[in-house]
Amino acid sequence: MDKLLIKGGAQLRGNLRVSGSKNSALPILAASLLADGPVTIGNVPHLHDVTTMIELLGCLGVSVLLDEKMRVQVSNADQRAVYAPYELVKTMRASFLVAGPLLARHGVAEVSLPGGCAIGSRPVDQHLKGFAAMGAQIELVDGYVKASVPTRLQGADFTMDLVTVGGTQNLMMAATLAQGQTILRNAAREPEVVDVANFLIALGAKIEGAGTSTLVIDGVDALNGGDYNVMPDRVEAGTYLIAAAATRGRIKLQHAAPQTYTLVLDKLREAGMDVQTGPDWVSLDSHGKQPKAVDIETAEYPGFPTDMQAQFMALNVVAQGASRVVENIFENRFMHVQELMRLGAQIELEGPSTAVVTGVDELHAAPVMATDLRASFSLVIAALAAQGTTQIDRIYHIDRGYETIEEKLTQLGAVVQRIS
Ligand code: UD1
Repeated sequence: MDKLLIKGGAQLRGNLRVSGSKNSALPILAASLLADGPVTIGNVPHLHDVTTMIELLGCLGVSVLLDEKMRVQVSNADQRAVYAPYELVKTMRASFLVAGPLLARHGVAEVSLPGGCAIGSRPVDQHLKGFAAMGAQIELVDGYVKASVPTRLQGADFTMDLVTVGGTQNLMMAATLAQGQTILRNAAREPEVVDVANFLIALGAKIEGAGTSTLVIDGVDALNGGDYNVMPDRVEAGTYLIAAAATRGRIKLQHAAPQTYTLVLDKLREAGMDVQTGPDWVSLDSHGKQPKAVDIETAEYPGFPTDMQAQFMALNVVAQGASRVVENIFENRFMHVQELMRLGAQIELEGPSTAVVTGVDELHAAPVMATDLRASFSLVIAALAAQGTTQIDRIYHIDRGYETIEEKLTQLGAVVQRIS
C-alpha cells in the first residue's frame, strides 16, 4: 500500500495549473450515457475515481476511448446494459449517478446501493423519491435499486427534502429525456451542478435555472453528441491555496475559476493572506506571516464547502489564535482530528459537529493515516508545516481525488516522496 513521506518546513512557492474538476467530471461522464451521438469530454482529471467511472461505463456497454490529453471519447452506439454491479459502485458513491441516465434512456436501471468515503450514512432516498415522482417503480432487492418505468419517465414537480448535489444531478439528468416538464425545487446550486447542466444543454437538453434552487427542465426525445470541457476543480484550487497559507508561502494558480469559491478566498483573506484574483487566476501571498485563526461553518453552496473543511482546519491548527470549525453537511467528517492531534494539533470536539482549534506555533512529524479523501489532504498540509518527516499511510484515498499530488507539491518546492 502506497505511503507518502513529507519532510516539512518548506514554504510552498510557485505556479500551478488547476486540474479539471473531479466532482464535475464524474457526473458528466455518467450524463454521457444519455447521448445518442458521440461525445468528447476534455479537461478530465487523471484520477482513480475517474478510472472507476470509465470502467463502469465500459461495463454498461459504452465504448470509451482516452487520448493522451485525457480527452474522453464516448460512444453509446452499442450501449444496452442497465446493470451497475456492487463491485464498481461500492468504491465510489458517484457511481450511483448512472441510475438517472439509464432509467431515462432505457426505462430501466439496476444499480447497486453506493459506498464511497466513510463520512456518514449518505443515503440516496432523495434520488429515489424523485425517480418515483417521475413515474418510476422502485424496488430495493439484495442491495440493489431496481427502477423501471412502463414507457417513459414523466415530468414532475418535485421538491427535495434537503439540498443534495448528487440527487439534483441524477434527477436533472433523468428529466432531460422525460415526457413534459420537470421542476426540481430546493435544488443544489453548486458550480458542479451548473457544469453538468451546461454539458447537457450542449447536447440539446432544455434546462433553465442552473445555479439557482429551482431547475426547470423540458424533456426532449433524444440528446445529440457534442464536445465539452470540464470546469476547473475548485476543491483542488482551494486546497493548494490553503497549503501555501499554512506553510507561509506564496502561490499562483492558473485555470483557477476563482468565482467558484469566493467565500474560501474571503476566509483566506480573513486569515491575513494577500489574495488577488483575475479572470482565470488566483494568487496568494502570506508575506511569510503566520496565518490568523478563522471560524468556519460548512453549508451548501454558496456557503463554505464541506470538501474544504478538513484542509482549513489544518490551517487553523498552525494559526495564531483559536477558532471554531462547524461541520453541517456530513455527520462523521472529523476523522482527521485524531490524526492531526498526533502531529501536535490542539483540537477539542464539542459534540459531533463542532471542533475548537487552538493554534500552535509548531507541529512535529509522526506516522499518520489517511481516512477519507479530503481529510487526507489536511494531513498533507499539516505535514508540510511540521518539523521532521511525516509518513502518511493509506494514501489511496488521496489518489481518488488529487491529480499527481507528488509532482504538484514538488513543483511548489515541497519535499515529498511516495513509497510502497
Ligand atoms: C457531493 C460531492 C462531495 C461533497 C458533497 C457535498 C461528488 C462526486 N461528491 O457528494 O464531494 O462532499 O456533494 O457538497 O460530487 N443526503 C440524503 N439523501 C439523499 C442524498 C443526500 O440524506 O438522497 C444527505 C447526505 O447524507 C449528506 C447531504 O445530504 O449528509 C449532502 O449530500 P450530497 O449533496 O448528496 O453529497 P454527494 O452528492 O454524495
